[in-house]
Amino acid sequence: MTAAPLLKIEDLRTYFYSRSKQAFIRSVDGVSLEIAKGETLGVVGESGSGKSITALSVMGLISGGPGVISGKIGFKTDSLQRNLLHQLEDYVTITKKDNRIMQVNKEEAGWDRHTDHLMDRIRGKEIAMIFQNPKSSLNPFTPVGKQITEAIQLHTAVRSEQEAKERALSWLDRVRIDSPRLRFDNYPYGLSGGMCQRAMIAMALACEPSLLIADEPTTGLDATIQSKIVDLLAELKTELGITTMLISHDISIISRLADAIAVMYGGTVFEYGPAKEILSSWFTSKHPYTTALLTSVPSAQNIREKGYLQAIEGDVLDTINIPAGCRFYSRCNRVTEKIRERCERCEPELREIVPGHKVRCWLYYE
Ligand SMILES: Nc1ncnc2c1ncn2[C@@H]1O[C@H](COP(=O)(O)OP(=O)(O)OP(=O)(O)O)[C@@H](O)[C@H]1O
Ligand code: SF4
Ligand SMILES: [Mg+2]
Repeated sequence: MTAAPLLKIEDLRTYFYSRSKQAFIRSVDGVSLEIAKGETLGVVGESGSGKSITALSVMGLISGGPGVISGKIGFKTDSLQRNLLHQLEDYVTITKKDNRIMQVNKEEAGWDRHTDHLMDRIRGKEIAMIFQNPKSSLNPFTPVGKQITEAIQLHTAVRSEQEAKERALSWLDRVRIDSPRLRFDNYPYGLSGGMCQRAMIAMALACEPSLLIADEPTTGLDATIQSKIVDLLAELKTELGITTMLISHDISIISRLADAIAVMYGGTVFEYGPAKEILSSWFTSKHPYTTALLTSVPSAQNIREKGYLQAIEGDVLDTINIPAGCRFYSRCNRVTEKIRERCERCEPELREIVPGHKVRCWLYYE
């Protein structure tokens, strides 16, 4: 990873308050990762590990307090450089005890106003997002072509309706929607799930974003449609070289599209490095959690054929009661007597073990 990162997230924390438990759910709890320009970063991890909340935090779209409370989100293009959380800490007072966050007071109105200012020309324009359920992301009362046309007029230099319409049509064609001129006037309910996802991709890319965030873009679609959407994403990656954060449970999609991978667990990143190392059998210094995730996927061929993440024994971490030591300790089968005490008592850092590859595990600290 030699190019300057387009997106650099540092120690991001996004919490929610559980009234019933009177405690914080630490959904994103110190996430650091980066995406180089032109690269696709695959983000994997079990359900509840904080993948979507990380993405929504980057978009400034967290609802429900306290939400994002600290960290840095550096975003750098040829024409723009911004910390998307710049000076937002002024609106938050955090009370800690023994390194545990006890209380968060956030001045919501000031935070939201400042976020809108920081996200001006970023959300929808520089960073676009596509979601799992495309039908519910599209406006049901407006034909899809009109929605794309309006997005183009809002987020690009194109102002004329005719020109924006031509562009929208060419994008519908580019994402391989059949008969784009007919589909242009269809309402979302008149389109299949696969077609809606193609329309969402067209709408996202028509605004020429620098970064595309795709959160489970094929989940919920049937298998043949899924593979066609993956083909489309692969084609667009080659043609446009768009920088992408691709969140997926499906390791076959990740193995096909990702250049780098971040493995998330319990609100943090356990491993981050080149996809070819993380998915390979020859790179043996993986995080035990990554190894467990990939156990059912032993070869590149099986990755393509099987393509799912194996369920790992033990319960997913409860991010209200995060233990003092390694978050994976209660499920880990690699603890040795030499490191047991550290595993149990001290949280390891995400540390570079070979250039460009970081792992959060005491096994690799010697
Ligand atoms: N508004 C909210 N209030 C309280 N807890 C929340 C809220 N949104 C998310 N969470 C919790 O934060 C944690 C992380 O959620 P997130 O949606 O990021 O998981 P994920 O990794 O995307 O999982 P999945 O693979 O199922 O999509 C989960 O435990 C979830 O229950
Ligand atoms: S730090 Fe210890 S418990 Fe955690 S993953 Fe590594 S070996 Fe397992
Ligand atoms: Mg999710």
